Amino acid sequence: MPYLNIRWKIVSTYLIIILVVLLVLSAFLLNTLYSYLFDQRKMDVLTDTNIIASIVSEDFTTDYINQKLPQMPLEKNARAIVVNTGSIVLYDSYKETSMTGKTFINASITNALLPNGKNSSNAFKDNGSWFIDATVPIIKNGQTVGAVYLIVSGDSVASIIAHIQNSLVLLGALILLFVGIFSTSIAGVLTFPIERFTKFINNMPKDSLQHVQINSHDEIGQLALAFNNLIDRMAELEEKRRTFVSNASHELKTPLSIIKLLSDSLIQTENPDPEFIKEFLSDMNKEVERLTRIIEKLLDMTQMDSSQSSMQFIHTDIREITGEVYEKLLPLAKNKDISLSLNQPDDEVILPVERDTLTEAVYNIADNSIKYTEPGGTVSINVSRDLGSVYIDIADTGIGIPKEEIQKVFDRFYRVDKARARETGGTGLGLSIALDAVKLHNGHIEVKSEEEVGSRFIIALPYAEELTPAEASPSFKGE
Ligand SMILES: Nc1ncnc2c1ncn2[C@@H]1O[C@H](COP(=O)(O)OP(=O)(O)OP(=O)(O)O)[C@@H](O)[C@H]1O
Ligand SMILES: [Mg+2]
Repeated sequence: MPYLNIRWKIVSTYLIIILVVLLVLSAFLLNTLYSYLFDQRKMDVLTDTNIIASIVSEDFTTDYINQKLPQMPLEKNARAIVVNTGSIVLYDSYKETSMTGKTFINASITNALLPNGKNSSNAFKDNGSWFIDATVPIIKNGQTVGAVYLIVSGDSVASIIAHIQNSLVLLGALILLFVGIFSTSIAGVLTFPIERFTKFINNMPKDSLQHVQINSHDEIGQLALAFNNLIDRMAELEEKRRTFVSNASHELKTPLSIIKLLSDSLIQTENPDPEFIKEFLSDMNKEVERLTRIIEKLLDMTQMDSSQSSMQFIHTDIREITGEVYEKLLPLAKNKDISLSLNQPDDEVILPVERDTLTEAVYNIADNSIKYTEPGGTVSINVSRDLGSVYIDIADTGIGIPKEEIQKVFDRFYRVDKARARETGGTGLGLSIALDAVKLHNGHIEVKSEEEVGSRFIIALPYAEELTPAEASPSFKGE
């Protein structure tokens, strides 16, 4: 299909509709007019023929006819012929090509000469001209003695119709012209805002996101509103991306500056003793490990962002996941003299989950509990369920989180106590990864925490129809 813009689509639709309506209307009008005018004309000719027939029936002799009929006021070019029962012409009003004495026969004369012969009248076209004829039997004393045949030109009717036809064509052309102009301006009014909108988008500077002005409340106004909402979302995403990049660079820069500082002082120290070198190298090593951890977590996160479509949700017993996390953390808890416990139902707790992602989420939360609990404390992992969801509840008797910080702990790189986090090696990414993972399963995380008393993180996973990554919470992306 060739490219046709909306303006021309509107104009051509209008024109086609009007053209079809005009054609149908004129065909109907001309047809009605045609039959009306010709019927009228046929009646007139038949009346004239009847008059002639009644005159000649008074005295049906050649003398009488030839004396009486020339006085009849016939219309111009009309031809009257009188025949006897043998179809021999007794009178012909055309003197030049007179048929008097000859046989003149046609279907309507034959019909009229039959006993109980009938009147008839026809309109026909011959050699491009219209004619109207009429035949009437001549009846004397109840007996058919002959017939009158009258033929006149029908061209006047045809020319009236042709005239009207021309007027209709002219009128149609005017209507089409008017509709053309009218629909072009309507189409212009309709498409102008779209063109303005497109121009605005094309001219928008590459490095900024701007709102389009909304001038109406119609569909185009709605489109502009949706566009502005999209711009807002993009700006929000862009802001998040910027913060993320600046946070990430900052986090990566800190260990790097420490390494630089340590190596500089090593280089500048003349003849350092081996103990000193070893201490510096081990500090540098710690920073390298920290860098590695941050990078690994960043990779985890971006992988979750990008590989959603390759993720597989498989029916899994949640107890296997919590069991695996428990086993992994047990040595860590023992080391720190923390009692770690696991409580779960006796029967299976099946949910379709992306196993690795969910395991990571549970691990990150339980790992925090151990990390932020003083020796001698307890950490418990509980699995339970109700009709709607499965809950993984991880509670500790640790240092707790200040009320105003509770929601922030899910932000990327956020740590409540920065100095302490450096000691514990925290990157501030663990909980944001956990939240992303839980959202991917359409779930949410509830946090209850009190400083110096402890914290409780409850992961709620709804029983859902078969989950596919595409159906997974859209809020996950870009968060
Ligand atoms: N159970 C908890 N008790 C007290 N504070 C906690 C607990 N869990 C998280 N926090 C606070 O929330 C912050 C963010 O936690 P998150 O797991 O995201 O990062 P992190 O533990 O510092 O580093 P990472 O887990 O990436 O190694 C922590 O730094 C800590 O201050
Ligand atoms: Mg953590």
